[in-house]
Amino acid sequence: MPHEAPDNQRTTERLRRLDTDAALRRRIRPLCRLAPGGVWEDPERGHRVGVLDAACGADVARIMGDGRARLVIADPPYNLELGGRRSGALGKRSLTAYLEFSRRWVEQAAAMSADDAHLYVWLGADWRNGYQPLPDFMLLMREQPGFVPRNFITLRNQRGYGTRTNWMWVRQELLHYVRGRPFFQVVYTDVPKTLGGYYKDIGGRRTHNLERGLAPTLRAGNVWVDIQQVFYRLEENVPGCYAQKPLKAIRRIIESSSRPGDLVADGFAHAGTTLLAGELTGRQVYTFDLDPIFAEITIRRLERFRQSGKTGWQWRSPFPEIE
Ligand SMILES: C[S@@+](CC[C@H](N)C(=O)[O-])C[C@H]1O[C@@H](n2cnc3c(N)ncnc32)[C@H](O)[C@@H]1O
Repeated sequence: MPHEAPDNQRTTERLRRLDTDAALRRRIRPLCRLAPGGVWEDPERGHRVGVLDAACGADVARIMGDGRARLVIADPPYNLELGGRRSGALGKRSLTAYLEFSRRWVEQAAAMSADDAHLYVWLGADWRNGYQPLPDFMLLMREQPGFVPRNFITLRNQRGYGTRTNWMWVRQELLHYVRGRPFFQVVYTDVPKTLGGYYKDIGGRRTHNLERGLAPTLRAGNVWVDIQQVFYRLEENVPGCYAQKPLKAIRRIIESSSRPGDLVADGFAHAGTTLLAGELTGRQVYTFDLDPIFAEITIRRLERFRQSGKTGWQWRSPFPEIE
């Protein structure tokens, strides 16, 4: 048994990035319980996980059945080369082709949604290429029947230390659209309120803002600076997943924009963050990914959580069979 560094001294993950390593993918594919077109149904809570295409009507109908989601979360590829590497599912295509793909998956997001529903879309902007695809996607959404804009959230998302020749890019955009009049509930961060000194006369009495507030912590606005980017030291980290979103961010979306028992859908499952956040908050989740490896990771992440209470693998591999 080779010597293993203690948890707090490790500097790498157990598994390399899964989308770009062909040899690694060949070893993992036989471990995946779903083939393209397959859907797994959770015997405990009725969640569903599929290997399906978010832009294909027949695929979406297969997993949704008669179900309609109150909340759809979409984290599509951003049309950027992440870490300078491209893969089949995450690469750079012409803007025209990317927008045609976006139009098709947004149409399917509408087909998945209830009459009163939220749609949240994570997206990026490439400054080397005229900030595409963020503004182009926003314009496309203007023409899309059904959804109307509700908000434009920015998550502080620091990857590495950035460059010395430009402002460090620490933003991640999250677009919020709605159709109909969906339920929405204000949620709070865990950042304590510290700024006092605002007074207001209420009913003839002078009150201080800290006493007027309903909660001891700050309410979440549309700039989220209190969420840690996922990296290999965090328990929730899923090695091999290059685009994992923080559980806390997905939980915040779910808790503000759905009720317990509601159906939540996500057609870009990847590390299975939406499924786990739904499990933690008592929502039912239908989720899928084009790649059988990410669908398998999504199912394993739920199973691991139920068995151990752990939200991810930290630096350990989700596929210990191939070690
Ligand atoms: C940015 S990641 C999603 C990250 C996810 N929110 C998380 O926290 O783990 C995008 C995922 O979409 C998948 N994907 C790409 N094209 C797809 C398509 N047409 N249908 C379904 N999934 C697709 C990729 O395989 C990748 O896993």
